[in-house]
Amino acid sequence: AGRNYLIGGNWKCNQTTESALELVSVLNAAGPIPTNCEVVVGIPYPYLALVASKLRSDIQIASQDCAHSAKMGAFTGEVNVNQLKDVGCTWVILGHSERRSGFGGDSGESSNLIAGKCVTAVAAGLKVMLCVGETLEERESGDTIKVVKSQLDPAIKALQPADWENVAIAYEPVWAIGTGKTATPEMAQETHAEIRAYVASALGRDVASKIRIQYGGSMKAANAKALLAQPDIDGGLIGGASLKPEFADVWRGML
Ligand code: G3H
Repeated sequence: AGRNYLIGGNWKCNQTTESALELVSVLNAAGPIPTNCEVVVGIPYPYLALVASKLRSDIQIASQDCAHSAKMGAFTGEVNVNQLKDVGCTWVILGHSERRSGFGGDSGESSNLIAGKCVTAVAAGLKVMLCVGETLEERESGDTIKVVKSQLDPAIKALQPADWENVAIAYEPVWAIGTGKTATPEMAQETHAEIRAYVASALGRDVASKIRIQYGGSMKAANAKALLAQPDIDGGLIGGASLKPEFADVWRGML
């Protein structure tokens, strides 16, 4: 469909200086990235600058969150978009289900907050992977697309249509994250097509035909090719497998 694949890795809260540098060396030596693939890795804050300085320049760097405010100031614990750009980020992952859920605590992020962060990030010139996805309970009650729409709606309201050129949607069914249970390519395709149709109805066909919709949830080299062969699956957001040398096999499989 003329869309380049967006192969994202998300290291989550993993790595030390030593293990990060080891993986960087493996990725640096992993051979050419096909011209129809864009590769981005989501790095924990402490290692962003280090990885940005050592990683091959044709792999882009994302942070896994950003502050709602772009300003410097009294925001203890926050990291703003200008600081992220300063250390070499060009992307930010926003609204990951682990941030939405607050890890079982009381710090969960709402879709409104996430939409505000999207606006802040895009205004600063960062690109966004906006994560959405249903829980097992929501899927079993037939609410998948209703949930995904409700997660997208605040961002659809808050962003200008032109901003969507800098946004990808990462569809990550929560029940498939870190569980080894991948959605089948057909199951994922069905939801991706529904998401694209919703984007078309809300933002127009042009935005819908250009936007990349990534699949996330136990994606790895062995199942990536079949998922990426689906017409509305335009990439991946890969957690566990992005910590291993096999991450490179995902783009190698597309050569
Ligand atoms: O952001 C990545 C997703 O949460 C997928 O994680 O590949 O470990 O299932 P996973």
